Amino acid sequence: MIRHVVFTPSGRRGPVAAGTTVLAAARELGVDLDSVCGGRGICGHCQVVPAAGSFAKWAIESGADALGAPGAAEINARPARPVQPGARLGCLAVVEQDVVIDVPASSQVHRPVVRKAIALDDLVVDPLVTLAYVELPAAAMDGTSLVTAIRAALLDQHGIDFGAVDASALAGLHRSFAGESRGGTVVLRRTGDPLPVLITSRPGFTDRAYGAAVDIGSTTIAGHLVDLTTGAVLASAGRMNPQIRFGEDLMSRVSYVMMNPGGDIELTHAVRDALGELLAELGATAGTAPTELFDIVLVGNPIMHHLLLGIDPTPLGSAPFELATDEAVHTTAAALGLAFPHAAVYVGPCIAGHVGADTAAATLAEGPYRSEHPQLLVDIGTNAEIMLGSTAAVWAASSPTGPAFEGAQISCGQRATAGAIERVRIDRETLEPSVKIIGSDEWTDDRAPSHTGPTVTGPTVTGPTVTGPT
Ligand code: FES
Repeated sequence: MIRHVVFTPSGRRGPVAAGTTVLAAARELGVDLDSVCGGRGICGHCQVVPAAGSFAKWAIESGADALGAPGAAEINARPARPVQPGARLGCLAVVEQDVVIDVPASSQVHRPVVRKAIALDDLVVDPLVTLAYVELPAAAMDGTSLVTAIRAALLDQHGIDFGAVDASALAGLHRSFAGESRGGTVVLRRTGDPLPVLITSRPGFTDRAYGAAVDIGSTTIAGHLVDLTTGAVLASAGRMNPQIRFGEDLMSRVSYVMMNPGGDIELTHAVRDALGELLAELGATAGTAPTELFDIVLVGNPIMHHLLLGIDPTPLGSAPFELATDEAVHTTAAALGLAFPHAAVYVGPCIAGHVGADTAAATLAEGPYRSEHPQLLVDIGTNAEIMLGSTAAVWAASSPTGPAFEGAQISCGQRATAGAIERVRIDRETLEPSVKIIGSDEWTDDRAPSHTGPTVTGPTVTGPTVTGPT
């Protein structure tokens, strides 16, 4: 019996015999699925996530039974890389029905290259949180509460007052000021009220306060971790948006939501999980604790914006493309299910139905509205936005580009993964071009770079803007 299998995000698909393991199917179809132990259930590198739902694009109804129930070998497997919730071991799970299977980045041998450079020239560091170390006098039997003592000390030692104390901060206050010197650090947040709010405290002195900025793209999610006291970028990371398994481009995902009741919740969970993983990765790279992350700024196109916030994106699927809101959204990491207890979240404002907060952020950074001369700002991602403007006015337009640049339903072109051209350089003397592809350390001319001219690196906006057949 023949079954049809589609692997995402590669989009590779084809028929396999029922009963074939996912790993064998992946190999048959040329899918990049990792396997260190050779399919013995030991390494855990082959994890895949079967997608459930109706996939009109491939005419596949992928149900919970599409992969056979785990056998004893899979149930008893204790691989070195623990099996993630919802994942199956590709070397042991077998194809029973037509199925769409997602290969997470962690299971790909050649992970997509996700790079987004950051330039923070001329940035004025003005964080919303302030850290202040204060020492309190010994507690006395005069009825003075700890908050009153902190308020007096803060005014006396820093000239700072605060308004409310966040309820979540109260439980830790005594612990923070328990030492002999009764010295501790309070964290205050400006909120728009005249006085800041005391949001948490730490024993002793600390100046560790971090923020994160994340661009949630249709294909990639990229973020930077920033030291809020210095403005230094401590870590940068990116990953594929796992929503790809529900549809390559924005409209496919809106269609998925329209055709699958509860699909919007699945998409929201997928993007929030990936965001949480990305933030954890940034923290691990920089050596920061989740409790030290105080501010998260998120941007994305309108559909990513809506799905992240749990807003139904279907009104954006057809004219007049009405946004739920074009204002900035203030919330907390906890409200988005992210394990950063003190982090506030600012989601940038969308501009119009298909011009999102990512474009608003790019506009703010590049400033066409500040330019005396017309300035063109182009962001080519899976969706492209173009801004043209000056101090007189700014115009915006957007259009899907993923099908053109990332190989959706066309024969030439692919994502920024193994085989895609990553760099191009031109020899100054011979003018001969040479390219380097992802997955290989060699340049095509295989020469030392001493005579080479300028190197043109890959796009700062991720994804292969220059692609070719593999
Ligand atoms: Fe090693 Fe599946 S290939 S656990």
